Amino acid sequence: MTIISPSLLSCDFMNIESELNCFKNISNIWLHLDVMDGHFVPNLTFGPPIIEMIAKKTSIPLDAHFMVTNPEFHMDVLKDKGVHNFTFHAEATPHLLDLVKKGKGIFPSVGISLRPKTPVSSVPIEVYAKIDLLLVMSVEPGFGGQSFIENTYSKLDEISTLKKKHGFKFVVQVDGGVSDKNASNLIKHGAQNLVAGSYVFKGGPSEYQKRIEAIRA
Ligand code: DX5
Ligand code: ZN
Repeated sequence: MTIISPSLLSCDFMNIESELNCFKNISNIWLHLDVMDGHFVPNLTFGPPIIEMIAKKTSIPLDAHFMVTNPEFHMDVLKDKGVHNFTFHAEATPHLLDLVKKGKGIFPSVGISLRPKTPVSSVPIEVYAKIDLLLVMSVEPGFGGQSFIENTYSKLDEISTLKKKHGFKFVVQVDGGVSDKNASNLIKHGAQNLVAGSYVFKGGPSEYQKRIEAIRA
């Protein structure tokens, strides 16, 4: 079953608690939290204090996507605060393996993310052997509502080959421009977890479940 991760970047932040309640009866979802620092990406969103508040209001697994230059700091801050998966960018640190190991001592699941132009081969094989999740960005990180980059498919194929060759078990997640139009193709190419922001939220609360099911279908 494909996990769908609605990205709260597109939610109504003035009514976050009622937004969270809209998802409570939908199964096989995570809630995707996009943390942006204005340095690693130009945009700014929210950080650990807001994540902590969200964690207190929902039992849905929280999937934190850190687009920041200092992921290590935030790992420490979020210890025991209810985050299920902590993803940070491979481009953000020269100490990738150490940071993955550190994260695994703190969170149930640790992911790394690749920008669209970051090659799969730039990450050492020992890192792929340790991670729980690989987030493949299918838009430049920093903003919701961008168009899907088509050469994501060839990157996914390369990742599937790598997984098969080494028997790696990490989950492949795709983030950016995901909708009912490209989801089945992404799944065919090996995606197991799909993040969707603008597509899920644009119909309003009455359509969240329908749109999540449309992605999964
Ligand atoms: C972009 C974020 C995404 C964003 C996706 O940097 O990582 O999670 O919310 O939004 P859509 O689905 O609108 O492309
Ligand atoms: Zn994201």
